[in-house]
Amino acid sequence: MQKFIVTGGVPLRGEVRIAGAKNAVLKMMAAAVLTDDRCVLRNVPRISDVQILRGAMTDIGFSVSPLEDGALEITAAGADWLFVPLEAAMKMRSSFILLGPLLSRFGRVIISNPGGDRIGRRPVDLHVDAMRALGAEIEYKNGYYFAQAPGGLRGARISFPYVTVMGTENAMLAGTLARGTTVIENAAQEPEVDDLVAMLRAMGAKIERTAPHRLEIEGVDRLHGVEHRVLGDRLEAGTFAMAAAVTGGEITVRGVDPTHLAAFTDLLTGMGISTETFAEDGGGLRVRGGDGIRPADVETQPYPGFATDLQAPLAVLMTQAHGISTIHETIYEDRLDYTMELVKMGAVIEVLDERHARIAGPTALHGREVEIADLRAGATLILAALAADETSVISGVEHVDRGYEAIESKLVALGAQITRIDA
Ligand code: EPU
Repeated sequence: MQKFIVTGGVPLRGEVRIAGAKNAVLKMMAAAVLTDDRCVLRNVPRISDVQILRGAMTDIGFSVSPLEDGALEITAAGADWLFVPLEAAMKMRSSFILLGPLLSRFGRVIISNPGGDRIGRRPVDLHVDAMRALGAEIEYKNGYYFAQAPGGLRGARISFPYVTVMGTENAMLAGTLARGTTVIENAAQEPEVDDLVAMLRAMGAKIERTAPHRLEIEGVDRLHGVEHRVLGDRLEAGTFAMAAAVTGGEITVRGVDPTHLAAFTDLLTGMGISTETFAEDGGGLRVRGGDGIRPADVETQPYPGFATDLQAPLAVLMTQAHGISTIHETIYEDRLDYTMELVKMGAVIEVLDERHARIAGPTALHGREVEIADLRAGATLILAALAADETSVISGVEHVDRGYEAIESKLVALGAQITRIDA
């Protein structure tokens, strides 16, 4: 078990380079399973979720090896067994993204019901329904989905009742090798989905986004290898932007397309935080904190709306705004638990129900002993500790390592006082 020791009160200044997006790379690793050719992914973030998926894929019999420059080389020549065990699924919900590719390429898989972050119930019923629509036979027994498609998958029209990112991706991955046309209605529009589309097209898949919410896929017999660079992580970028805002510093965030953060930067601007975006050198944004932060009312939405994954970090900024801010979490029914830890640090937050909170500001935050419950709550508590006086001791660091590459060394380079200790 490790902990972060953070002494706050230092305005963070400088530049930070953003890693490849966690929520894209995992699906791209799964996409490499669709071909027996070699695939190379570049700009792969050094995060533990990548290692967990690498472990699960290696156990199946695929070769997944890091290259010297931090790229990942994947060759899925053949499978020793078509099984994703509970162990992998418990560590990471995204292991379920192997369902579509394994079913589509090999015609069967036994895959565990996933666990993942403790945010809401997070079922996978929409993934399973989509595979059934594509002709798969799926039985659920003792925590495992037994899925098969003896005669192969066939194209179908899939209409999601509400937007699901990974559900869209699983259906899309499966559809690439299915016979005939697959149409996905109410498809997710997240930039990570479109980067996956770009990779699949480069592998020979016939996919098109024919309307903002519609993807059309014409199945092909075979996909080939590819070299693909993972897009920059807009959620990591948003977190560092907020680090500038809450500490009253100035940070230039590089390596992310700022248009992917438009809802977020619009909100920051409305709160009186100076943000400037640029396209050169892979894109980025410059954010300067200051006094007189204004409150805001935010509602999380699928892309292009305000990302649920930035909701908790934003709450820290709201504690420093002059007035009452409100949060409406529409994606998850259980993503406000972090507020209890912020209250321990001095925040004034009223949780009205499992989806609504009111935050009064400005309040001074104080260093405390707090515990991280999930990935984004981890970033939130680190931001709060950076904004607080005194020293905080933050446990549950492993949740942060799932999705933020070397967070403490990046923060130290910006002037933060943060160290990791074994506890
Ligand atoms: N849902 C269902 N049934 C399903 C699938 C989803 O009810 O079969 C529900 C979920 O419980 C949730 C909503 O639908 O209430 C939307 O979930 P979605 O499927 O879009 O989430 P996801 O694909 O599992 C990805 C990201 C999450 C991010 C969400 C929403 C990955 C690996 N994860 O999850 O990222 O919060 O989209 O944008 O791509 C994070 O990075 O911290 C994180 C949790």
